[in-house]
Amino acid sequence: MLDALQAQPADALLALIKLHAADPRDDKIDLGVGVYRTGDGATPVFKAIKGAEQRLVDEQDSKSYLGPEGDGGFVSGLMPYIFGGNPERGGRIAGMQTPGGTGAVRLALALAQKAGARRVHLGTPSWPNHAQIVSDLGLETVPFDHALPDGTANLDAVLRVIREGGEGELVLLHGCCHNPTGIDYTDEQWRAIADALANSAVLPVLDIAYQGLGHGMEEDAAGIRTVIDAVPEALVAYSCDKNFGLYRDRVGAFYVLAKEAGDLDAIMSNANMLARATWSMPPDHGGAAVRIVVEDADLTRDWLGELDDMRERMRGVRERLAAADGDIPGLNLSALADQNGLFAVLPLSSDQIAALRKDHGIYMAGSGRINVAGLHRGNIDKFIAALATVAG
Ligand code: LMR
Repeated sequence: MLDALQAQPADALLALIKLHAADPRDDKIDLGVGVYRTGDGATPVFKAIKGAEQRLVDEQDSKSYLGPEGDGGFVSGLMPYIFGGNPERGGRIAGMQTPGGTGAVRLALALAQKAGARRVHLGTPSWPNHAQIVSDLGLETVPFDHALPDGTANLDAVLRVIREGGEGELVLLHGCCHNPTGIDYTDEQWRAIADALANSAVLPVLDIAYQGLGHGMEEDAAGIRTVIDAVPEALVAYSCDKNFGLYRDRVGAFYVLAKEAGDLDAIMSNANMLARATWSMPPDHGGAAVRIVVEDADLTRDWLGELDDMRERMRGVRERLAAADGDIPGLNLSALADQNGLFAVLPLSSDQIAALRKDHGIYMAGSGRINVAGLHRGNIDKFIAALATVAG
């Protein structure tokens, strides 16, 4: 039976990790998978997380099961950061822990499918795993253009799908730091999106995987809060991979905004059932560490300080790249200064991307996406010079 399976291509982003590792050049540059790096190129464990983990080692007295919903303190502790004041919106929001943001996206889409969803409107380009999850569930992806050529968001395209869409349709929106373009909706655009959603049967699925890496924890949540305040129902997928640096510990959460508080029990019982049938229970360690951080004022201050440093460093890299705009016409590098988060897409051909890899040891996704956090004082001049050579 199993010999009927066709070989599948390796995940292109994850394959880059191996390709980069196998390159013997000392001055190679990894701009592939989305992990934050310091000015020394390292991805250290946050000090706040180390402190929380130490407390776990000292104080945790059991590793017995918690259940499909995971650590309730973790789920509720994140809510003020995501949803702001009145985080439960009068009892209309509930959540559960998931294995990473991917688990949360999967659970959100599977739950919507159980409720009758058939199509997912997806602004493209998007994180490649979005379309893969949609298709693996047997849902249909309906693409629309996320970005305009000038490096800003295409508001008309998203408004059109919301206004023209109907029952059984979802729209998947990135809460902030859009992956891969770095192009976010402005506050005014979010208000227009929220108004359109309030008058549409299309259900929003809000994926927020980079909160704090754009303009700040509050600022980066403003768009999704505007939507949450306007719509009757929404699904939210949250990741702690980047803003707590917990990548491999797989720490995420899934939240539902229901029409009425009384609807939540039935909705969450379905989410619990889906989680139980898929992964049974989420891994505990990383979520417990996040809970300890957000419950402790000192650790919270350390964590937010570390996030500030990350954001500031990435802003510096973006500004340096934008300043090179005049030297390499055609790449619209100046737009990077107004974009957010780890990523940007450079309009490079596949030959140019291959030449950067082969001739200069520079690794980026085949889409032209770069991880700006892979650049620092020690390698950014080399990167700009290489770009000028292949694209200038
Ligand atoms: C990325 O886009 O590089 C990250 O979100 C990591 C991943 O899982 O793809």
